[in-house]
Amino acid sequence: MALCIVAGTANPNLAEAVAAGMGSVAMRGGLERFPDGELCPVVGPMRGDDVYVVQPTAPPVNEHLMELALLVDACRRAGSERVTAVVPYFGYARQDRRSRPGQAIGVRVAADILVAAGADRIVVVDPHTPGFEATCSIPVEVLTATSVLVAALRDRELGRSVIVAPDLGAVKLAERFGAAAGLPVAMVRKSRLSGTSVRAEELVGDVEGCRPIVVDDMISTGATIEATTRLLEAHGALPGTVVAATHALLLEAAPDRLAQLGLARLLVTDTVRIPSAAPPVLEVCSVATVLSDAIGRLYREEPLDDLGRFE
Ligand code: R5P
Repeated sequence: MALCIVAGTANPNLAEAVAAGMGSVAMRGGLERFPDGELCPVVGPMRGDDVYVVQPTAPPVNEHLMELALLVDACRRAGSERVTAVVPYFGYARQDRRSRPGQAIGVRVAADILVAAGADRIVVVDPHTPGFEATCSIPVEVLTATSVLVAALRDRELGRSVIVAPDLGAVKLAERFGAAAGLPVAMVRKSRLSGTSVRAEELVGDVEGCRPIVVDDMISTGATIEATTRLLEAHGALPGTVVAATHALLLEAAPDRLAQLGLARLLVTDTVRIPSAAPPVLEVCSVATVLSDAIGRLYREEPLDDLGRFE
């Protein structure tokens, strides 16, 4: 069974970096679009191959999810032996529960679409919900960008710093950063007012005179980072907050919003394609080696235990 990496259109640079890290080349299939908007991806020959389709379901989420599902189906029909959907950023993962009656569980539906298309396995990086694996009926490998981001943080003197979780959901992530960087952890209690607005209600922990390092799985509109930074300043943290987040969606006004915060560093990864209007302090750390290491092991049927996110 030969290994084959297929690049979707959501982040072909990452797919190519992953393939290059394995001494291979990513197959870029064609993507036709019919006049009514339907997508029609086309892949090359792959009979008997072990195929890894790399496609984050970043915005436009529905387009990229549908393209991924169609790619998985195309790979199946092209005779591949096994198809793994490598979804570095899994859209809909924030819809992991119903926050009010009448809603759907979006993450479950998104995962079911990939299963129905014929995926044998899903690989994700820092999914929003810790219960992601439980929403899927096929094997899931959960990877983390923590080691990549911690290595970048360590490039500079950390001094008297404190890792900050900007909401309850980020506490486990903050603990992982704290353990890896040898730093204490503080946390913020956050309320979401709307899709673009949050309130940082309360700080638990001491940040006075410290450099805060805010860690999160994703930056979407930048509301969480803005509210957290303001709260930390009000509690005597040093100016020049450092932010480390895995997925840089950086939607709408996020780049401007973040540019006004006087951040010292804004570390993100390349799980999604970075928008061109990114804030000036942005530093992009690649997860390509994390993915190529994981794919290599999966191909060779080796364990991923030390790469995965188990707590
Ligand atoms: C929420 O629970 C997530 O972990 C992020 O904090 C959130 O999605 C970030 O979104 P935004 O940048 O729009 O505040």
